[in-house]
Amino acid sequence: MKKTLALILAACMSLSLVACGGGDKSNTPPAGGSNAGTSQSANQPSTGGSEAKTVGIAMPTQSLERWNRDGAYLDEQFKAAGYKTIVTYSDNKNEQQVNDIQNMLSQGVDLLIIAAIDGNGLNTVMNDAGAAGVPVIAYDRLIMNDNSSYYVSFDNYTVGKLQGEFVRDALDLDNAAGPFNMEFTAGDPADNNAPFFYNGAFDVLKPYIDSGKVIVPSGQTAFDAVATDQWQTDVALDRAQNVLASFYSDGTKLDAWLCSNDSTSMGVTQAVTQDYAGGNTVVITGQDGDVANLRNIKDGKQSMTVYKAVANEAVVTLDLAKAILDGKTADASLISASGWDFECAYDTESYETTPGHKCPSFLLVPDVVTADNMEEKLVTPGYYKVGADGYLEATNG
Ligand code: BGC
Repeated sequence: MKKTLALILAACMSLSLVACGGGDKSNTPPAGGSNAGTSQSANQPSTGGSEAKTVGIAMPTQSLERWNRDGAYLDEQFKAAGYKTIVTYSDNKNEQQVNDIQNMLSQGVDLLIIAAIDGNGLNTVMNDAGAAGVPVIAYDRLIMNDNSSYYVSFDNYTVGKLQGEFVRDALDLDNAAGPFNMEFTAGDPADNNAPFFYNGAFDVLKPYIDSGKVIVPSGQTAFDAVATDQWQTDVALDRAQNVLASFYSDGTKLDAWLCSNDSTSMGVTQAVTQDYAGGNTVVITGQDGDVANLRNIKDGKQSMTVYKAVANEAVVTLDLAKAILDGKTADASLISASGWDFECAYDTESYETTPGHKCPSFLLVPDVVTADNMEEKLVTPGYYKVGADGYLEATNG
């Protein structure tokens, strides 16, 4: 049932993507009007006969592929459940996101779903939401404010762990003699997820670095040294080019490059393709299953991506929001009562908004996608289809 919903939404999502066309402008304005930078739509009344409640959905940017998927899935699911929605994308600018959320509060939203650009940059609006009694679901990225009512995400540490384990197994670090050379590229320091991804990966690989089986020729292993401002492809590309020029231009072999996500992987892959002289295949990781990266994976330029089914993340968010808005208990019982056909854990320990203040979290399970299992993991469930050229593309029905 929920799976069917996810499939229908996959179709809607691809239509929305076509309609959006890129840039951080408004989502396609449906009948009912829109504000600059927002899409607002009034729908049929909420089931149950009461007046439809309004849910504000604040996404970071349309310039990174996944947030278009998230925004579209959330919008469609909440509309289908009878809520009014306001959706904003804030061009990766914290101040703009603050304004967008402020506007939603002025419009009297009943609940906010926020994927923060800067997890530390929303205190004013979060305090306003708290004062107005508006619950906030921190979506995918934790907001470092105690008014975050709940957190819905994937198990971020496990995302990194899967990447680290992939490198470990691809290089056969437990058996091969080595030593192997590798580099790291992490995410945006303003995104609370980024250190979780990085630590998950680094914890797997650290023993091999400590034993000398893995060498990092640049010496750059601290999160801050390998972080990528706003997860930008160009920033990752620049740093990768510098590292290759400084540490590999003498013929040093590069065996692997651990990248925390697909946008950074895209930059690193470009640098390796253009500037690395060695003839070997370099193991390169990613996360999200962006279409361009899936092409690179099929072409053997990127080795894997960690896929997170954001359609399911939206399903959890919808059911959680319903429970909150209906005044029902929202804890582990939500999972047992849900009928979801995917795994999700209720976690009250792992995520703190301020020291000692834990945020109850619903965490979904990420999955490894490679050239070999791409169709099974992505096409069979309906997230993508095989295009005429043999590469995967968004589903359009
Ligand atoms: C998300 C990743 C995404 C990254 C950049 C993170 O917060 O969890 O899926 O790749 O942001 O958009």
